[in-house]
Amino acid sequence: MLVENQKLAEFAALVSSGDVRPFEGPLKVGVDLGTANIVMAVTDQDNRPVAGMTTHSTVVRDGIVVDYVGAVRAVRTMKAALEEKLGVALTKAATAIPPGILDGNVRCIANCVEGADLDVIKVMDEPTAAAAVLGIRDGAVVDVGGGTTGISILRDGKVVYTADEATGGTHMTLVLSGYYDIGRDEAEKMKLDASQEQAVFPIVYPVVEKMASIVKRFVDGRQVKDLYVVGGACCFSEFENVFEKILHIPTHKPNDCLFVTPLGIAVNQ
Ligand SMILES: Nc1ncnc2c1ncn2[C@@H]1O[C@H](COP(=O)(O)OP(=O)(O)OP(=O)(O)O)[C@@H](O)[C@H]1O
Ligand SMILES: [Mg+2]
Repeated sequence: MLVENQKLAEFAALVSSGDVRPFEGPLKVGVDLGTANIVMAVTDQDNRPVAGMTTHSTVVRDGIVVDYVGAVRAVRTMKAALEEKLGVALTKAATAIPPGILDGNVRCIANCVEGADLDVIKVMDEPTAAAAVLGIRDGAVVDVGGGTTGISILRDGKVVYTADEATGGTHMTLVLSGYYDIGRDEAEKMKLDASQEQAVFPIVYPVVEKMASIVKRFVDGRQVKDLYVVGGACCFSEFENVFEKILHIPTHKPNDCLFVTPLGIAVNQ
């Protein structure tokens, strides 16, 4: 089931147009260092999106920084571009990590942001950030990004369980590349082309089933009544239906699902 979220739509429009919305007062900044994309989100104190930017990235893999210098450079470049548009300096930011990664890796993610001259004021779990945008108090948020499927279960507005496991959009691309005997770049392009969804979705279907089975293991016995899927790999129109079929839990997907976690990092600080 698709759920409409106005703030997400506003943020997505700002990212694609490169525009800045007029603002007053101090700004909040979120940096999402993902396996596939680095996203910076800027909001005002009322959590209205003000500006945003996304860059394709290969500097982080499943929450682990594999190219520190590249990561710092990318965040620096994005920060400078946003500062120029906004006409103010950005000095502090929040960031996020997939649930369950080791302390040293958490530090490493924070160091990338600090290396770009942003004081890190908070490091949160990615699905927890997403829950803040969706306004969820009860249920589970599943973030299916480039590399991993992560989950946060919330009860009465509190996170009671988090977990994360490898399997994301990258795995879909690999399966597609193998099936059609094409290179990874070509497979990625094919996957992102909505007009080819009929040729793509049946081939990546087993990967979606695998993602659902990962989530099934995490939610079993935890009385989850609603599920919310976010992250780039959820973009396929039938994605949430596969989850519902396997999990027998009502599954909701917001518009612009790629941007839920990044916007949530800015909002939830
Ligand atoms: N329209 C789309 N259809 C299918 N897949 C998509 C679409 N848009 C993006 N993706 C896939 O989503 C993934 C990126 O999602 P996202 O930006 O949420 O990941 P990430 O945050 O970089 O990764 P992670 O959270 O795992 O570290 C990529 O694998 C990309 O190919
Ligand atoms: Mg992510």
